Amino acid sequence: MEHLSIKGGRRLTGSINVEGAKNAALPACVATLLTDEPVILHRIPQLRDVSTILATITSLGKRVTREGDRVEITHGGALKAEAEARYVKQMRASFLVLGPLLARLGHAVVPLPGGCTIGPRPIDLHLQGLKRLGATIEERVDSVAVSAEQLRGARIDLPYPSVGATEQLVMAATLAKGETWIENPAKEPEVADLIDLLRKMGAQIEVAPTAIRVVGTESIHGAEHTVIPDRLEAGTYLLAAAITGGEVEVRGVVPKHLRPLLAVLKEAGMMCFEGNDTIVLANTERPHPVQVSTAPHPGFPTDLQPPLVAMLSLARGKSVIEEMVFERRFGYTPSLKRMGAHIVLTDRTATITGVSTLWGAEVDAPDIRAGAALVLAGLAAQGFTRISQLEQIDRGYAKIEVKLSLLGAQIERER
Ligand code: EPZ
Repeated sequence: MEHLSIKGGRRLTGSINVEGAKNAALPACVATLLTDEPVILHRIPQLRDVSTILATITSLGKRVTREGDRVEITHGGALKAEAEARYVKQMRASFLVLGPLLARLGHAVVPLPGGCTIGPRPIDLHLQGLKRLGATIEERVDSVAVSAEQLRGARIDLPYPSVGATEQLVMAATLAKGETWIENPAKEPEVADLIDLLRKMGAQIEVAPTAIRVVGTESIHGAEHTVIPDRLEAGTYLLAAAITGGEVEVRGVVPKHLRPLLAVLKEAGMMCFEGNDTIVLANTERPHPVQVSTAPHPGFPTDLQPPLVAMLSLARGKSVIEEMVFERRFGYTPSLKRMGAHIVLTDRTATITGVSTLWGAEVDAPDIRAGAALVLAGLAAQGFTRISQLEQIDRGYAKIEVKLSLLGAQIERER
């Protein structure tokens, strides 16, 4: 099994390029199920999760040609209505195929999703929304079967702005008869990017401040699209600069997507400079403590909570972080504590009293972002850190050891 070996204590300096956003690439690949025409996607990152989604849509009848970060997805044969458990269990985003398959074929069976160990991740909002669009839903022990001769536009009030449910319902509504209003939708940049792609594919979608309106059409066509840069990858590298007292430029980003993080970093005493498509973070001191609650966009992103906590474990004082999106997203804190961090958990809150030194340790990456947090802690710690379950980190970060080495870190992938 591969692991990362890090010798901590180096200040990170230099520039790195950011990849395309994983969480925009995944729904973009799924959206190709809405048409038989070719869809060409650019800036698709080389990640395990992307390989999983491409395998999922291939198993459903698509043909995929991948050259670097360009992916061409064409008709490979008759579309299948049943998704395979081996893909959907690996990654929750595969569950998004349900809506497009239902809209195209009038029925679909998709296994219940798997994914990260960050708390219960129900699919009730996806199913309630599809029901509003006229689908009949049968919840089986291990899968969901849906059917509808013709989806019909409807008003769907989301009780919570779920990213996945919004994406699922927007995709299904593009082929429904009539008009759909999704009230209280997710506003994450990745959702906006999917809507951009769907519009290029002929969907009629308008985004209002508190709702999305979709006017169904009879067919969706091919398109060419470049997915947005990964704000979560960029944010992780900015936090890596912060925790090591370094100076790092992330290139090829959309700075406004990172404003919720930049506001917190500035409060923590970091110098941040925004260019057109770059951000530079410079830090020479231990961070100031901060109080942050995670929230749907434009709030502080839950995906950057674990690397932020890693940084705050070295702050000068007491920080309080509330995790309001996922119930169990502090699962990595026992590992940080083994490295010397002082963290007390109560329900959804972590109180972190900064220490002056972290120490290297042997730890596991329980999920993508928790893995990133442990890498950051390892970069700042004294001595060696060995991180196993590297496949979790590889789901969301392309060549993390190569990029961090370019910034001066002593980090290696070992067998
Ligand atoms: C997306 O997951 C992202 N994944 C996650 O990134 C991200 O953490 C999350 O949005 C929040 O920003 C992808 O885009 C592929 P949600 P998703 O539906 O769509 C509850 C990463 O590390 N909920 O907005 O699954 C749910 O339990 C990953 O890159 C319901 O109750 O997130 C959670 O508490 C991890 N019922 C909250 O909503 C539902 O039907 C947010 O989930 C759906 C969700």
